[in-house]
Amino acid sequence: MAGPIIIAPSILASDFARMGEEIAAVEAAGADWIHVDVMDGHFVPNITLGPDVVRALRPHAKIPFDCHLMISPADPYLEAFREAGADYISVHPEAGPHLNRTLKQIRKLGAKAGVVFNPSTDPSVIQWMMDEVDLILVMSINPGFGGQTFMHSQLRKIEALRAMIDAEGRDIPLEVDGGVTPETARLCIAAGATALVAGTAVFRGGAEHYAANIAALRG
Ligand code: DX5
Ligand code: ZN
Repeated sequence: MAGPIIIAPSILASDFARMGEEIAAVEAAGADWIHVDVMDGHFVPNITLGPDVVRALRPHAKIPFDCHLMISPADPYLEAFREAGADYISVHPEAGPHLNRTLKQIRKLGAKAGVVFNPSTDPSVIQWMMDEVDLILVMSINPGFGGQTFMHSQLRKIEALRAMIDAEGRDIPLEVDGGVTPETARLCIAAGATALVAGTAVFRGGAEHYAANIAALRG
């Protein structure tokens, strides 16, 4: 299960007026995935972007787009995000009544299906359908905004989900999102995380710092 840590810069912390250039810059700086935070002002108290923006960004980088949907309902928009170029589509169980149906639809569209855990969401929500999950994303903040402080309480949940993935025997990426810094990244990796989302910690300082910022997260 060890292996290189996946670093997924969150474009939420990029310059929104120059987003195409920003994702090209983080790709050149060594990013593995582009993390796209989609917010609807309803499921979370902030509004960001939709499938048309994903489509416009897609030609600016070759690495996978990791689309984190903080929208409710999510089901009516899955196809639009997939057609726009999303490789991973992750949903919160609280966003719709039938998580399993949503995951099946994401896979049917040809994307990888992810489940996102809010700080209060219990790992048991995926216990009986581990074989239908392609990505697990643990929020170490309450979703809605970048620049928040890492919640250490979520480290035990990362450990619990690590054990569930190991028992399943498939190489499901275990991703952490929120307040990831070089310091908290180490804690996440020690707890079993294999992928890290970082907005503030990647985009701080401007493009000439992106490579060093990403390298610092790998430890
Ligand atoms: C928040 C988003 C995060 C956010 C992380 O709801 O899901 O991806 O951009 O930002 P930082 O890394 O600044 O905590
Ligand atoms: Zn996110």
